[in-house]
Amino acid sequence: MQKHRWLIVWAVALLLLLPACDGGDTGGDAVSLSFYGPSTGRELDLTNAALRRFNQANPDIQAHVSPTPRLYQERLDLYNEVLQGGDPGVDLLQIDVVWTKALAVHALDLKPYVSSDQLGRYFATIVENNTADGKLVGIPWFTDAPLLYYRSDLLAEYGYDHPPGDWDELEEMASAIQKGEREKGNLGFWGYAWQGRPYEGLTCNALEWQVSQGGGNILDEQGNPSFNNAEAAAAFQRAAGWIGTISPPQVTDWDEEDAMALWRRGDVAFMRNWSFGYSETKKTNLGDDFEVTSLPAGPGGTAPVLGGWQLMVSKYSRHPEAAARLARFLASEAEQKIRAVEGSQNPTINSLYGDTEILKAMPFAANFDSTMNDVVRRPSTIAGTKYPQVSEAYWTAVHTILTGGDAQQALAEGEARVKEILSE
Ligand code: GLC
Repeated sequence: MQKHRWLIVWAVALLLLLPACDGGDTGGDAVSLSFYGPSTGRELDLTNAALRRFNQANPDIQAHVSPTPRLYQERLDLYNEVLQGGDPGVDLLQIDVVWTKALAVHALDLKPYVSSDQLGRYFATIVENNTADGKLVGIPWFTDAPLLYYRSDLLAEYGYDHPPGDWDELEEMASAIQKGEREKGNLGFWGYAWQGRPYEGLTCNALEWQVSQGGGNILDEQGNPSFNNAEAAAAFQRAAGWIGTISPPQVTDWDEEDAMALWRRGDVAFMRNWSFGYSETKKTNLGDDFEVTSLPAGPGGTAPVLGGWQLMVSKYSRHPEAAARLARFLASEAEQKIRAVEGSQNPTINSLYGDTEILKAMPFAANFDSTMNDVVRRPSTIAGTKYPQVSEAYWTAVHTILTGGDAQQALAEGEARVKEILSE
């Protein structure tokens, strides 16, 4: 009898517990949402924390990250694969500011899901960028502009009282500091780290060199290739000259994380990178020994390329309404603030630039207006769905020059390739 009583207690407990195991307070039939996008550890941590907040506030929905490859191109290939297959299990996707036109055909129009009041809070230029085929393809999540990171302790030590204002100064300071540090015994020390791997990040770096040299954009306003000119060639040859002198030979295979790794080790004086690196560096023992400033200028001024990521709902999603709710939540003021304070990522909502906690965590945000004045846009609107191919032809030509190819020939071939792509 005693035994039976225990059995009954156990059975009742099991019955009471079952619903909790089956989704807890979600009632067991919560909608499950997949979010394709965040890949690296840091991005993943920030996003997982945001999803936990969302899931808690929306017990009828359980959202999770479907991690994607870290490599940029592989990520776009994966998106194209799952979207072209019309996979109903793909709900929300993190898309690059230059992908909105290329992915628009697969996007749910988010306009009916965002009030005009809320939409009006986002930077109008990004909303415009994200509008394609008459749809709001993505809600602006965070925006990106590159910074020049520099070791303020080393600049002071070598007698420089200001960061480099132009490329000549950058070269001069980078080589002097590199020489001095190597003489002290750090043979692995370099002057300047950037992104030279053949991928979208090289398109950003190269366009910054080209525009600052006065060499125009990748496509002109009419949509014709405009990078085969003497200024652009000079800019790319200058960068080629850094390799093996002030930049490590491996830089032609580096993305943002690779540059970050050398910087984090304390083995480089200057680095070009996006704003995420600020909070990352603050957490290291370089925290008090670095500053950021705008990218060096050339005859064409300073030319930071606009980056950033948007939230797109797949039109094949089984749960469009829930996915749109998640997109709205992630891009809300409150969530953008957390991302800015913890991950130093630039908000897409103007009013957040007056927030004292944000300005404390990422002081460079105070200059965001002037950065936006200088900002250069990749021609993804003009090239439309062809942008990824155009960009590939461009970075291929630049990479050829960086790795020793003849500049004139590489640019002429790149131009011919772009013409071919645009006429297909
Ligand atoms: C950053 C930018 C993005 C750019 C990419 C290139 O993630 O936000 O716009 O395309 O870097 O690597």
